[in-house]
Amino acid sequence: MDAFVYKGDAVRGEQWRALFAEEAPDIDFRLWPETGDPAEVRWLASWQAPSELIAEFPNLEALFSLGAGVDQFNLVQLPEQVSLVRLVDPGIIAGIVEYAIFAVLALHRDIPRYLQDQREGVWRERKLTPAAERRVGVLGLGELGRAVLEALGPFGFKLHGWSRSAKTLDGVECFCGEGGLDALLARADILVCLLPLTPDTRGIINREAFAKLPAGARLVNLGRGGHVVQDDLLAALDEGRVSAAVLDVASPEPLPPGHPFYSDPRIILTPHIAAMTHPQSAARVVIANLRRAQAGLPFEGLVPLDRGY
Ligand SMILES: NC(=O)c1ccc[n+]([C@@H]2O[C@H](COP(=O)([O-])OP(=O)(O)OC[C@H]3O[C@@H](n4cnc5c(N)ncnc54)[C@H](OP(=O)(O)O)[C@@H]3O)[C@@H](O)[C@H]2O)c1
Repeated sequence: MDAFVYKGDAVRGEQWRALFAEEAPDIDFRLWPETGDPAEVRWLASWQAPSELIAEFPNLEALFSLGAGVDQFNLVQLPEQVSLVRLVDPGIIAGIVEYAIFAVLALHRDIPRYLQDQREGVWRERKLTPAAERRVGVLGLGELGRAVLEALGPFGFKLHGWSRSAKTLDGVECFCGEGGLDALLARADILVCLLPLTPDTRGIINREAFAKLPAGARLVNLGRGGHVVQDDLLAALDEGRVSAAVLDVASPEPLPPGHPFYSDPRIILTPHIAAMTHPQSAARVVIANLRRAQAGLPFEGLVPLDRGY
């Protein structure tokens, strides 16, 4: 029998166990730390995987990330024979789409300022900009960026997107590569980050990038905290270059008490909750992928290690 090890919190682990028992009884499900004979383990699902963990399973074929990103893994530590597979989960996509719509609409409608007015007891109307006059620029046109752009379509915003390789998307002006970044930034009244965190994208939303945005632009970060140079964001807010931001991610997480993001009225901050991995949907995605492996098909969400995402 093929053995699969789940290494995560015990409560979710039991939910995974129940789902495997129901939908994949032929797969020998093991809940960490009761992993049985390590030589029988073909697959491991984990939030993180220190090198000793991988070394423990000599016949490991695949490591499944329990999140959409893989930046928490040290890719150089992975033995060649182990495939790294990220979670392409409809539950995560739905969560990100909901949050992105909330954030873009909140920024489009100046909600951070109105919240501040409310706290100060001020009744003040501001000019309403029609959606058709607002440009939304999305960094990252992967599973999440594309889903967000599709969901934004009906609101009538002007949509722009940026990716590493060239893309064509209905109703979206697409840019690519380093050369395309400036063009995207110049068109982003609301900039939404949905990039993976890699050496190329770390710190990409920095002072130089802020300077290329239209004056008073707004930022939504749904990627990773490491994408934004946080001191540069505070400076850009102070200079009026950026007028408001919605941040679901930060660096480090959790942000230490007293960090300026907590008390800045121009920032709406949430503790990395835009999307959560639900056992019901994630376990089914992984089971479907194990079936692909058993049928000799490539994994969905296989991460090319040289690309890093
Ligand atoms: N806040 C949360 O709760 C939460 C939840 C889930 C995920 N996330 C974050 O969202 C990220 C994106 O997820 P996804 O599933 O959409 O990933 P994905 O399908 O791998 O897509 C990544 C996109 O980013 C582009 N990209 C990567 N490196 C680039 C570079 N150097 N320059 C330009 N474009 C680049 C890719 O370009 P190509 O199309 O050319 O490959 C692709 O379009 C995850 O890695 C994770 O960090 C956050």
